Amino acid sequence: MHDFVWQLTVSLVLVVVAVFAFIALKSGVKKDYDPIVKKAYRIRTVWFVVLLTVIVTSFFFTLSDLPYNKGGQAVAANADAQVVDVVSKQFYFDMSQTEFKVGEPVLFRVTSADVNHGFGIYDEDLIMLAQTQAMPFYVNELVYTFDKPGTYEILCMEYCGIAHHAMVAKITVVE
Ligand code: CUA
Repeated sequence: MHDFVWQLTVSLVLVVVAVFAFIALKSGVKKDYDPIVKKAYRIRTVWFVVLLTVIVTSFFFTLSDLPYNKGGQAVAANADAQVVDVVSKQFYFDMSQTEFKVGEPVLFRVTSADVNHGFGIYDEDLIMLAQTQAMPFYVNELVYTFDKPGTYEILCMEYCGIAHHAMVAKITVVE
């Protein structure tokens, strides 16, 4: 996926460079202005309709399920979950528990004691498994069940100050 995004980015940058080069090369040529304006306006109208269609369609498919955890159904369904209180601070996570069992649902109750932080759970390959926001005066609940033993990392995902990058916690999951 990363490779694909990288290749796509490079390709699009090359397209932009090509357009600039084309314009630079053609800049000396004199042409009548009116037909160009008409053509550009037509392209703009079509482009607007295409964009609007793409945006409305993608909003329909991605946002119609909001809020994703309606009324905390996931939380209610996991009444037997292990409850962990997480208080985020510049620049660490204060967690009431850091060792969990495979297959046991964990309910993270995440808040912040200062500014907005992010609470992202990552596996050993730094693939994100679950995340929520850590907000002052608000508790976000996140249920996650670990299916493999190992060491997991909690990373802050919201730029929160000078040591944001160092805001990391480790949790252990055992059989
Ligand atoms: Cu806390 Cu970034």
